[in-house]
Amino acid sequence: MQNKIDALNTKIAEAHKGGGDKRIEAQHKKGKLTARERVHFLLDEGSFQEIGMLVTHRSTNFGLDKQKFLGDGVITGYGNVNGRLVYVFAQDFTVMGGSLAEAHAQKICRIMDLAMKNGAPVLGLNDSGGARIQEGVVSLGGYADIFYKNTQASGVIPQLSAIMGPCAGGAVYSPALTDFIMMVEDTSYMFVTGPNVVKTVTHEEVTAEELGGASTHSSKSGVAHFSCANEVALINELKTLLSYMPQNCEEEAPSVPYSAADESRESLNDIIPNNPNQPYDIKEVIDGIVDGSSFFEVHKNYAENIVCGFARLGGKSIGVVANQPAFLAGVLNIEASTKAARFVRFCDCFNIPLLVLEDVPGFLPGTDQEWRGIITHGAKLLYAFAEATVPRITVITRKAYGGAYDVMNSKHIGADMNYAWPSAEIAVMGAKGAAEIIFRNEIKGADDKEAKWKEKEKEYSDMFANPYNAAARGYVDEVIQPAQTREKLIKAFKMLENKVDSLPKKKHGNIPL
Ligand code: HXC
Repeated sequence: MQNKIDALNTKIAEAHKGGGDKRIEAQHKKGKLTARERVHFLLDEGSFQEIGMLVTHRSTNFGLDKQKFLGDGVITGYGNVNGRLVYVFAQDFTVMGGSLAEAHAQKICRIMDLAMKNGAPVLGLNDSGGARIQEGVVSLGGYADIFYKNTQASGVIPQLSAIMGPCAGGAVYSPALTDFIMMVEDTSYMFVTGPNVVKTVTHEEVTAEELGGASTHSSKSGVAHFSCANEVALINELKTLLSYMPQNCEEEAPSVPYSAADESRESLNDIIPNNPNQPYDIKEVIDGIVDGSSFFEVHKNYAENIVCGFARLGGKSIGVVANQPAFLAGVLNIEASTKAARFVRFCDCFNIPLLVLEDVPGFLPGTDQEWRGIITHGAKLLYAFAEATVPRITVITRKAYGGAYDVMNSKHIGADMNYAWPSAEIAVMGAKGAAEIIFRNEIKGADDKEAKWKEKEKEYSDMFANPYNAAARGYVDEVIQPAQTREKLIKAFKMLENKVDSLPKKKHGNIPL
């Protein structure tokens, strides 16, 4: 027996070497960890159980029969993150550039199947040169098998993607189908076609980093939700992100004990400036409401006019969507609408209640927005809120103008509780613009036009620049002092804890994509 055990140990040692010392050294020289090191940092110590360590490819094309590596360039298995079960795959760039073909894809599909059946998240650590060129069409088939499973798993279990090296060509579509993408600055990139093809086709000269690096995708395209300074930072963020979500769509996110649950937060009374056109930072409001420093922002550098992120309130996980008056006055544009819509849908998939903080002057006007389809994109956010069945609460801190009032989780589209601060202004538009339209003739005929305009602006403002018209109709359930917000929200979310709501029977809706 001992010699058989020795033979097994030799195989395990071989698998642990991946593509060999030289390639591991090259990986480290690039400032990257190996796939095994990443799994080690990600999972609780001693919890990783590998599946398929001895799998190899079956191809003989182009001399591949002489290039067999145990595991076929991807490490797959399960383990725990902070005591909770996760399934993980980590592509090993030291083995044929982490390239994907039949066996490599089957290994990933295998853990996705297990994750679906057992209801636990899949974490994908991507670092691959893409389809294994020598294996041809089976590589493409392997990708498609993964895409299919990503789609089947969407909304059933959380799927999180870390990009820790190249991710190019069709390979980008697996992460794109998952819930969140994290990238490492300087050492990871994602693009459909690389700089050389770009140069040939469009004559643009661009580096890989500019075209599809972490900063590009986390600020310009919005493809990536997180940009991390290095791999260890990414792994830590990934763990934090996981802590806010449940294991699957049937469960609730774990809660953590929080003692000062109903403390008053007096500083909130001083945040809104006296001048309604003066900006303030909505993140101060969020931090003022939620538990300690629990706010964890998603898409921090993209569409900053809307803030999305997870937080805890009285120890429970919530999703926060908040207009940001400190950036483009908190206006809703295409990017903000799609960013928030996707976040709302994630929270709804996974039973995470939604808190909306509203201070929005409306949708951004102009040809750029109209020609690029603000109508369709704005409708995404409207649709996402209207369809969400999780507990949903809105607090109007200041402006709630026009269509944006309806869209931002108004009572009319199914919000459960709607609060307003005394500073709320709920109207079709701002007083200045309103006076210009409805009192145009009166102003035109006046001797002192400027004075008349001011008078009419005040008249409109007195009527609507407050929350009381909306409260009189029950569109706002309660007007509250800012300092009371935390306590009110904790109580209201508790009251909504057992909410049961469902959509009409349908195959699926048709969100305006
Ligand atoms: C087979 C590959 C490979 C691939 C890399 N390697 N990519 N082997 N298929 N796709 C191998 C290299 O031959 C090399 O082997 C080792 O991995 C490391 O690669 P290097 O080039 O030395 O590394 P580096 O300089 O860091 O460059 C990384 C790279 C480059 C930019 C990713 O390797 C590259 O451009 N690869 C090809 C990318 C590509 O075109 N992929 C197909 C995309 S199309 P040795 O033995 O020399 O160490 C696609 C379609 C998917 O993926 C469609 C799905 C629907």
